[in-house]
Amino acid sequence: MRTVRTVAEMREALARPRRRGERIGLVPTMGAFHDGHRALMRAAREASDVVVVSLFVNPSQFTTADDLNRYPRGEAKDAVAAEAAGVDLLFAPSVEELYPDGFDTSVDPGELATVLEGASRPGHFRAVATVCTKLFSIVQPQLAWFGQKDAQQLAVIRGVVGDLNLPVEIVAVPTVRDRDGLALSSRNAFLSAAERDVALALPRALRAGVEAHRNGDDPVVAARRILEPAEGDLTVEYVQVAHFDPPTLAAAVRVGTTRLIDNIPLGAH
Ligand code: PAJ
Repeated sequence: MRTVRTVAEMREALARPRRRGERIGLVPTMGAFHDGHRALMRAAREASDVVVVSLFVNPSQFTTADDLNRYPRGEAKDAVAAEAAGVDLLFAPSVEELYPDGFDTSVDPGELATVLEGASRPGHFRAVATVCTKLFSIVQPQLAWFGQKDAQQLAVIRGVVGDLNLPVEIVAVPTVRDRDGLALSSRNAFLSAAERDVALALPRALRAGVEAHRNGDDPVVAARRILEPAEGDLTVEYVQVAHFDPPTLAAAVRVGTTRLIDNIPLGAH
């Protein structure tokens, strides 16, 4: 595996495989790899000749400086994990490389970016859409993998790719969970053992919601019924049926200083 830091180097590294008609696959990430990221890399490895993983903690998509500053970083460890997962090229540019002085263009994903996560985090999806569009343009992959864990991000990216006719196919990977049901996330590392116990109400509530929906009941009411007893220890930001394809029960909670999101597509078993 080779680590590449500039756009020019990336283009050069991919010139020959592209000329040969090889399939280039991209997995965009912010590092701090866990089994969720590994599932995306594995899927990319199976379907591509050249697997590119980008590792870039995108400052503009963080809504608070605090969240950005405490985001876990460890490129050396991530490089070892990426290599073990069969990644060919790790694209780890500096902030200046992607956003040089004078950078002044963004991709605005519209309505979808203003609800749910977008309502809590103004500007977040514009920043995600912009960096992903740049990555698609730099790497020009035929395929790119995104996690169902961030269902709204996936829907936003599909919207951008469709609306702008970007020549990349977006592939969704199901959410990878710990044995206790908590969806893997780089932010889980911030939870104390007690907070983690509290956080387990989130996947439990979503499962109860999906089950209620299957029985013809209101999924949001059922999910809230599970979350309510935990309130005080956790704060519910939203529980909603998101009108993605497929419709998805999505929620965000805060446990201590950690914000967690999760979702389950309605109709899931
Ligand atoms: P990051 O949070 O590092 O996530 C990278 C990819 O891994 C995303 O597509 C995310 O949905 C997926 N992922 C995270 N946890 C997962 C889990 N438990 N199961 C399955 N997939 C999971 O999402 C981002 O980075 C950034 O917003 C990015 C798209 C890279 C743009 O900066």
